[in-house]
Amino acid sequence: MHRITVCFTPVQFPSYSHDDANAVAIDILRATSSICTAFMNGAERVIPVSTVEELKSHAGRHLIAAERDGIKLDFADIGNSPKYFTRALVAGKTIAYSTTNGTHTINLAAQCRNAAAGSFLNLSALCRWLEEGNRDAFLLCAGWKGRFNLEDAVFAGAVAQKLTDGGQFTTECDSALAAMDLWSLAKNDLPGYIRKAAQNERLRKINAADTIPYCHTIDLTDIVPVYRDGALIRN
Ligand code: MLT
Repeated sequence: MHRITVCFTPVQFPSYSHDDANAVAIDILRATSSICTAFMNGAERVIPVSTVEELKSHAGRHLIAAERDGIKLDFADIGNSPKYFTRALVAGKTIAYSTTNGTHTINLAAQCRNAAAGSFLNLSALCRWLEEGNRDAFLLCAGWKGRFNLEDAVFAGAVAQKLTDGGQFTTECDSALAAMDLWSLAKNDLPGYIRKAAQNERLRKINAADTIPYCHTIDLTDIVPVYRDGALIRN
């Protein structure tokens, strides 16, 4: 049996042992949903960049997608909503990508044996990737500036539940058990449940809440973006 661990925020990352695990970076609103959409629309590579300074060095070489506190950075080509990652813009392209929480989370997950980007859009494919990977699963939520958030925790619960139902995984991690409890509360009306999340209100204030139902759509794609040599690529 392999084990599932859920880490609710990047701040808690050093408290867990995860080096040999297959990790999933989770930022449902909106980074990992946007990344899955970019690959669905033919993007070739997504370079997760943690700092704005480093991102500037990609300008002129790659398509730049970036936000801080939800707002597009002025030198970026596009902001951070799945709807900006259109086929016309991203097909065949390398995207240098930096967001408030999500891209730093991906770079932490990359320290594990393997790392992937997970969202509701690729839930089943992601679980197959974890099952075929034949290692412990480490589910790393982006949260918000070091704090817990609901939407990432609910998704971690969906993954943990699917993996335990599949019979190859078990868990003794209280965060995984709590995440599964949240998933069971949320699963019958996901958009309704997520309405209470703080990020729902943040996105509403910047007129970006239109993406929330899309980001909670299950299994739109079989693509699993995986981390290799400094970038996410299509698995
Ligand atoms: C993040 O990385 O914190 C998010 O993707 C923020 C956002 O929704 O723009």
